[in-house]
Amino acid sequence: MAKVTMTVNGKTVSGEVEGRTLLSTFLRDGLGLTGTHVGCDTSQCGACTVHVDGKQVKGCTVFAMDVAGAEVRTIEGMANADGSLSRIQQAFQDHHGLQCGFCTPGMVMAAASLLAVNPKPSEAEVRHHLEGNICRCTGYHNIVKAVLAASGQDVSQIAAE
Ligand code: FES
Ligand code: FES
Repeated sequence: MAKVTMTVNGKTVSGEVEGRTLLSTFLRDGLGLTGTHVGCDTSQCGACTVHVDGKQVKGCTVFAMDVAGAEVRTIEGMANADGSLSRIQQAFQDHHGLQCGFCTPGMVMAAASLLAVNPKPSEAEVRHHLEGNICRCTGYHNIVKAVLAASGQDVSQIAAE
């Protein structure tokens, strides 16, 4: 076991981890940040997506030790400062971009990552960017619609699924 320190959602945190402890495991079991979901543990589903130093990362693909000193953001850090839903989160709610919600934290983190570099993506760009995030419920249509709406684009002409 070794001590690891990083910044998570603006706070400096430390914990004891094994060399093999995944970032997703540390966030969930070490810090109690269970909004980061684990669907596969094998980099297939994207449910564990977080941001590390501003970049989208699947938390099950990196060891906690390897992000020592980094700035990590999880879904718990995505709401506005007053606790209200962020623009992206609100868009998911408004456009029914979730059903069971299991994939949603990862989808929101991936969407935020896309909009940070491409504020007005096309539908194709949104679909391409979310390819690493699997949803078993929605058929993706309303997720894509929510991301486009969050980017300020008119989605009224996009047919409901
Ligand atoms: Fe990490 Fe599925 S739990 S990609
Ligand atoms: Fe259920 Fe996406 S809403 S997996």
